[in-house]
Amino acid sequence: MKDSNFLKEHNARQIWHPMAHPADSIANPPDIIVGGEGVHITDVDGNTVLDAVGGLWNVNLGFSCQPVKDAITAQLDRLPYYSIFRGTSNDAVIELGEVLHDFFAEDGLTRAFYTSGGSDSVEIALRLARQYHKTRGEAGRVKYLSLKKGYHGTHTLGASVNGNSNFRTQYEPLMPGCFHIPAPYTYRNPFNETDPEKLAQLCLAALEDEIAFQGAETIAAFIMEPILGAGGVIPPHESFMPGVREICDRHGILLVADEVITAFGRSGDWSGSRHWGVKPDMMTTAKAITNGYFPFGAVMISDKVAEVFENDTTGKASIGSGYTYSGHPVGAAAALACIAETKRLNVKDNAAARGTQIFDGLNRLKEKYDIVGDVRGGHGLMAAMELVSDPETKKPIDKKTIAALHRATYEAGVMVRVSGPNVILSPSLILSEAEANTILDALDSGLGSVA
Ligand SMILES: Cc1ncc(COP(=O)(O)O)c(C=O)c1O
Repeated sequence: MKDSNFLKEHNARQIWHPMAHPADSIANPPDIIVGGEGVHITDVDGNTVLDAVGGLWNVNLGFSCQPVKDAITAQLDRLPYYSIFRGTSNDAVIELGEVLHDFFAEDGLTRAFYTSGGSDSVEIALRLARQYHKTRGEAGRVKYLSLKKGYHGTHTLGASVNGNSNFRTQYEPLMPGCFHIPAPYTYRNPFNETDPEKLAQLCLAALEDEIAFQGAETIAAFIMEPILGAGGVIPPHESFMPGVREICDRHGILLVADEVITAFGRSGDWSGSRHWGVKPDMMTTAKAITNGYFPFGAVMISDKVAEVFENDTTGKASIGSGYTYSGHPVGAAAALACIAETKRLNVKDNAAARGTQIFDGLNRLKEKYDIVGDVRGGHGLMAAMELVSDPETKKPIDKKTIAALHRATYEAGVMVRVSGPNVILSPSLILSEAEANTILDALDSGLGSVA
């Protein structure tokens, strides 16, 4: 490995970072991570900190999950690549298909379409939604509905259903036919409604209104995260997703659950849809499917959708979508080992317990510090604090202060993620009770240093 000075000096000279300004990356060199073990990471200067980001919501089993590493190595030795485009397959994807079928059977999802990540999964699901309607003779159903504040990756179709201008404005014009409804976000919403249940009803009414305005016969799918993640961890009221399901059913609109973050235990249940008692028509997954060790994803498909494709005799259901790395055998081998370990450790229960512990701790910090405007979480191991410079006006915190908090928290031993005015926590699901307290203590120091 090159020495620390070389790495720091060269980092942003030749590479551009996703979700960063190139000039800012030069002016403020990032933390360069060179090692990981358990739930800890080590930077190039030798500092070891607890990673409360869990990689990027994906390293659910920590950084030293030996079964996944072994599976990757063994698959690389045996068959490092073979495509599953028409005419060929490989044994690992077939085995994984069985495992995913069983894992998601309770969600009513029985077929898998493989991808190489979350944005790919979203793209495939939205494309399949249109194809589903065309195949069954409703070719006019081409539009998509989604939530403001939602995050669905950065492919152009995904960005078009994204609900955050940061990922849209500089890339416009995006896809026509994509429309957004207000998110069930109690801290800030156009209805000025703070009661979660009432707000859920208002957002559902807005959905009904948009469907009436667009014409149900023009809408292919509604896509939503069961708990909004990157938009600042927004868990809706328990009535919201079931309400969306009912409205979609009534209007013949497919419901796509974007579970790139929530699938495989993070919500405290094996899927976010199951957490709310909803069966989606399709579910996008990626991230934790391989513990983040290999870029891989899967769109899970319900019988209802599958039957239309599989029974088609017109040829319309021939799938004209897919990636060179759809069904990569190394990714499939990693996923097989990862899902086995995920089930063996029953990480969903720990996610629920540690999630409650962290949510309670963050609420205590809110009592202590005025700059904590809102705390969100309580549904598994995903939580956020929204910081404000004035709790009365809810003026968002400035960039300099939140950057200083991030640094102080890191120096206190914990890596957190800062996104706009939010501090986001999404640690590995194997986090211990003591490690959860370490996160809370470090945040206490971080907040104390800027308050
Ligand atoms: C809900 C959701 N959908 C899609 C994506 C995009 O996934 P990827 O970054 O793997 O393309 C993400 C990434 O964070 C996500 O959180």
